[in-house]
Order: sequence, then structure tokens, then C-alpha cells
Amino acid sequence: MADSPVTIHEPNESGEAQPAGPSVQEQKQMEQAYAQMKRKMTMEEIGRKIKHKIMVLSGKGGVGKSTVSTGLALSFAQQGHKVGILDIDITGPNVPKMMGLDGQRLHVENKRIHPAQGHLGVKVISMAFLLEDEDTPVVWRGPIKLGAIQQFIGDVEWGELDYLVIDFPPGTSDEPLTVAQSLPNIDGMVIVTTPQQVALLDSRKSITFSESLKVPVLGVVENMSGYTIQGSTAPNTEVEIAAPGGKTKRVTSTSDGSFAVTLDIFKEGGGKTTAEEFGVPYLGALPFDPGFVRGGDDGVHRIVSEPEGASAIAFAKVVRAIQDQLTDGFDGGLEII
Ligand SMILES: Nc1ncnc2c1ncn2[C@@H]1O[C@H](COP(=O)(O)OP(=O)(O)OP(=O)(O)O)[C@@H](O)[C@H]1O
Ligand SMILES: [Mg+2]
Repeated sequence: MADSPVTIHEPNESGEAQPAGPSVQEQKQMEQAYAQMKRKMTMEEIGRKIKHKIMVLSGKGGVGKSTVSTGLALSFAQQGHKVGILDIDITGPNVPKMMGLDGQRLHVENKRIHPAQGHLGVKVISMAFLLEDEDTPVVWRGPIKLGAIQQFIGDVEWGELDYLVIDFPPGTSDEPLTVAQSLPNIDGMVIVTTPQQVALLDSRKSITFSESLKVPVLGVVENMSGYTIQGSTAPNTEVEIAAPGGKTKRVTSTSDGSFAVTLDIFKEGGGKTTAEEFGVPYLGALPFDPGFVRGGDDGVHRIVSEPEGASAIAFAKVVRAIQDQLTDGFDGGLEII
């Protein structure tokens, strides 16, 4: 019987029963156990070499996770840190494009994958680098996908990093669970939301999800949180602007005649309310900035094209709020498998 755990002791030439070598099945089990142990050790080493690991999640798609992940990574890099970004979105990876690495291929040496280097030296690993053709979506069945993620994490040569930002597909899917079971000492998750009610409801699910992952919530970021319009008129003049929802906003121009007004396109302050309701930190708001859309198309991230701009400043504030939440000694999380 092929599956029998019984080892048959064949007699040797002199007729004595000899323990035979391991059966094919035993050998396979040993190999599997060895591979698992090796992977676990590699993960532990990666865990040690990367000081801070931050997951970026949202309950709902399209709220700007990838924009926020790349923005955070670049903002950390602006502070002079060594940074990496891991794009776990297998079905729609778009981080490379945002980091100016469209069409890149990964470099493999001694069976280790070396990340590509994007803007400001940020190291990037994405499933997009493995796709033959960016228009062909990857449709992988669950277990294959999760195995690929684990292997991907274990086989990457990140080197020493201060921060690794991990971008996920939307929702409370298997991917965050796989990462939480693979990488030790994840500092926590940043939850991205937009001010609309539906997005807020979904971000509440993400907060609850963090409990099952045993990964702390570092806080909530409200993205696309208002649109700033700028203009000029006569000096010290009151300007009236028609805001969404039939409201009117008034502003007085400065002595040189310029004015700026931030309009709430969706709703105001929902991210803050959600954070307060769940007792998690509110990390700040990022403005609606059409430059993010352009940057996504032409491969030059907003923070790179305008390092001193309003969006870069908003990101820097969020980064400082995240750093306030980080503790060097977090030692919890799921058991690594
Ligand atoms: N603050 C912002 N201002 C203007 N546009 C933005 C902003 N944030 C994101 N966008 C735009 O919204 C779109 C979706 O953003 P992004 O791809 O980052 O979302 P996502 O949550 O990662 O999406 P998915 O769920 O598909 O992974 C993109 O076109 C992006 O340029
Ligand atoms: Mg995305």
C-alpha cells in the first residue's frame, strides 16, 4: 500500500532483517518539513532585517490604497530611511506603474529575487513583474495564490530596511492572513478610507478584521478628503464659491489677491469619526489631488513631481502620525507557519 506508514525491513544478504531506508512517502514528508523549517527561518531573518512592517488595507476597492502605500513609502524615503514596498495585489498590481517601474523584470541571483528600485531608491516587489502582459489578469486558485505569496515573501532579498509597506487588494481576503502568518512582528495596519458612508462602513470591517489577524491598527487615513481650489482676484476681497451640496463657501483674498479654498467633495470628517468610534488613532487626511491620477498614468508619483507640494506635506504628516504609533518592541501576531 503506497500510503502505509509501516516500514518494511528487508533481510540483507546474510539473511538478517535490516531497517530499510525511508519510504518514498517518508522522504517526501521529510523534504516538506525541511522546506517549511527553512522557509520559517528565512522569514524570521527577513523579520529581523526589516525594522518596521506596515500593512495598508481598506474594506472597499478604489479608495486609494496603492496611492497611499506608494505615498507613505516615498514619504519615509524622503526622511532618509531605507524603504521597500511589497505589492500583494496579484490580480491588479499597479504599484510598479506608480513607482516609475512599468515593464520592469525582476533580477534573480542565487535563487534569490532582488527587488527593483523605484523613485527615491525605494525597493519594489510586485506580482506585476512576473506578468507576461499587463493586460492579462492573473486568475489563480486560492491555494496556488497563497503559496505564491509565501514563496514570494521568503525568496526576496530585501537587505536591511527601516520600513516595508505592504499593499493589498481590497477587502478582508486571504492575502492579509497569509502575510500575517508569514512575516513575524508586523507593526500594524493602516486603514484607508474615503469620506463616503459606504467606504466608512467597509473600513469598520477592516478594523474588526485586524483583531482576527492579531495585528494592531496603527490608524485610519482619510483619502480624497477635500479639493483645494486656488485663484486670484483683487487684494483683500471676499470671494464666494459654490461648494458641493448647494453650500456656499466664502474666503477673503490675501494682500496679493490670491485665495485658496478646500471643498469637501464627499463628506466631512468621516475617517475621524470612524477612528474615534473604534478607539483607533486617526492618522490624518490626504487631499483630493488630480496630480495623483496623472502620476499614476505617467509613472511620476506626486511626491516626486512636487516634493514640497500640499500632498507631499499631507503625507509627511500622516507618516509622523504613524511613527508616533510605532513601538520597537511589538512582539505579537499570529503564529508563523
Ligand atoms: N487623493 C487622491 N486624489 C485624487 N485621486 C486619487 C487620490 N487617491 C487615489 N486617487 C486615484 O484613484 C484611483 C484609485 O486609486 P488606487 O489605485 O490607489 O486605489 P486602490 O484602493 O489601490 O484600488 P484597488 O482597490 O483597485 O487596489 C487612481 O486613479 C488614483 O490615481
Ligand atoms: Mg490597489
